[in-house]
This record gives sequence, C-alpha cells and structure tokens, in this order.
Amino acid sequence: MHDGFIQLHAPNSDLIQDELRAGLLAPQAHSSPKYLYDALGSKLFEAICALPEYYPTRTEAAIFTAFADEIASSIGPGKALIDLGAGNCAKAANLFASLQPSQYVPVDISVDFLRDTVASLRQRFPQIEMLGVGMDFSESLDLPHAVRSHERLFFYPGSSIGNYTPEQALAYLRRIRAACSDEASGLLIGVDLVKDSALLDAAYDDALGVTAAFNLNLLRHLNTVLGADFNVRDWQHRGFFNAQESRIEMHLEARHAVTVTWRDGERRFAAGERIHTENSYKYTQQGFASLLERAGFELRHRWTDPHQWFLVCHAGTA
Ligand code: AVJ
Repeated sequence: MHDGFIQLHAPNSDLIQDELRAGLLAPQAHSSPKYLYDALGSKLFEAICALPEYYPTRTEAAIFTAFADEIASSIGPGKALIDLGAGNCAKAANLFASLQPSQYVPVDISVDFLRDTVASLRQRFPQIEMLGVGMDFSESLDLPHAVRSHERLFFYPGSSIGNYTPEQALAYLRRIRAACSDEASGLLIGVDLVKDSALLDAAYDDALGVTAAFNLNLLRHLNTVLGADFNVRDWQHRGFFNAQESRIEMHLEARHAVTVTWRDGERRFAAGERIHTENSYKYTQQGFASLLERAGFELRHRWTDPHQWFLVCHAGTA
C-alpha cells in the first residue's frame, strides 16, 4: 500500500561520504554534479534559470509552448508520464493540457520534495492518477509496480543528460529504452546544442555571480556532509566552454595554497589548483539523433528554436 508516494532505498550516507572523499583525494580532484543540489543549491539553480544569460530553461520552455500541439500529436494521449528529476513538476504540468497523460509519475531523489507540489497538482488535475517516487534514477530505473509498464513516456527535460559523458549518456538512454516495454512507449528529451562559445561562457559565468554561488555552495555542502573546513572565500568559480570536448566545465579554483581537513583526512591544494565539479555536454542535432538511434530508439520528431540553441526530441521504440 502507498498514499500516492513511494520512497525507494534512501541514498546511503556512508557510500556518499566515501565517494566524496575519494573525489577530493584524486590527483585531479572532482565531485559529482548531483552534490550541487542540496536545499540551497536547488534554490540557486532555480535562480540560475531566471538569469538573462542562462538561455536553456527559457528556450526549452518556448519550444514546448510553440510546438505543444505537434508534440502532443507525435506522442498521443493517455500515457504514463514518467518525469525524471521532476523537482517542482512545473515543466510537466505545463504539458498536461495538451499531452493528456492518464498517469503522472514525478521521480526525484527525495519524495519529500514532491509532496506539496503533487498535492496541489492533484487538485488541479483530478483526472490524472499521480504517484510520486523517491529514488536516485541515475542509479536505477526499477520503478515500483504501481507505475504502469505499458504506454510510458519518459520525460527528461532541461538537458540534464548533458551531465553525462556521451558514453555514459548512451548507456543511460539504453536503460530508459529497456524500461520502455511496448511500441507505444517513448522518450521526450531536451538537449542543449553547441553554439557560439561566448554565449556558452556567459551562461555558466553570469554577471551577477549566481552560477558562482551555486558552484561555491558545494563547499558548504561538503563541510556539512564530511565535516570538512572549506572556507568559501579561499575559492573561486570557473565556468567555461571546452570546445575540444564539446562541454561546459565548472571548477572551483584555489585562490592561494590551502589545506582542507575533514574528519579522517586532509588535502593540500596549490594556488590555482582546481576541483572539477560539473560537465555539461553540448550536442549537435546530428550527434544527438545518432546517440538516440544507437540506444535503440527511433527518432520520431525533433523541434528547435529559431536560433537553434536547444533541441527537443521525441523518440519511440524502434
Ligand atoms: C541542470 C545539468 C542541465 O548543465 O546547464 C546550470 C546545471 N550548472 N548552471 C546545466 C547547471 C550550471 C544544468 N543542468
């Protein structure tokens, strides 16, 4: 039995601490981007989405609005809409009227984030069955039995796929493909495209410093989780496009030599040494289409904006 919310295995804090410590001690220090999203980090990311320089959120929203009818007729009504990384559920909710799903399954790491939003969505859309699922969907897509197994539409907007290397993205798309068991299932995904590097640089190093705050907040989070003594003022944000790798890189760079200690360890960072905190890969339309096909999907339709800054794809099962 469930009350419309299911929390699957909560993340194991020992494993998280091991992973974070190993990342800090690696020759090139690094941390997974998922640790950017503690409570404050999630709010800072929402603020990023409102920045003039950060084009992805509003460009994707404009594509969903402009092509709502086309997108809906490509997909068809009555799907189980499985929202990967639902957060405040706003992107999916905007599609309800045109898409007319019969089930809505917002998935996020913690079901507690979903409770209030889903409660108010239920009032507004009583005809849609809603089931909030708390799980780390980057680890597993084994959804609870209450989630319908046929006529599924996986919804993965915002270019979150960009956090993976193309090789990891392929593996992840294959996993989504495997969770689509019938011909009526598919994927609606948003992907950020390669563009002029000045635009990309500005989007990840904005004038107000919100992205800098988002990145630096990781250090506060590490202090909490590891009992570390990072001083945010010792570090500065770096965010830039690496054209060779076709990815944005975010790093935290030591302003001067600094030794950081935590409960059972420490690391000395030289001046200018960096902790690599995020990659955000940018695709060409061709490149992403071929990734979908290699994952066993069939590209049904794709939509973009007039500048071709962002891409939305509907892929079906081949
Ligand atoms: C949530 C991964 C899509 O890569 O654009 C925004 C995260 N990082 N600014 C992105 C992010 C810095 C964002 N994704």
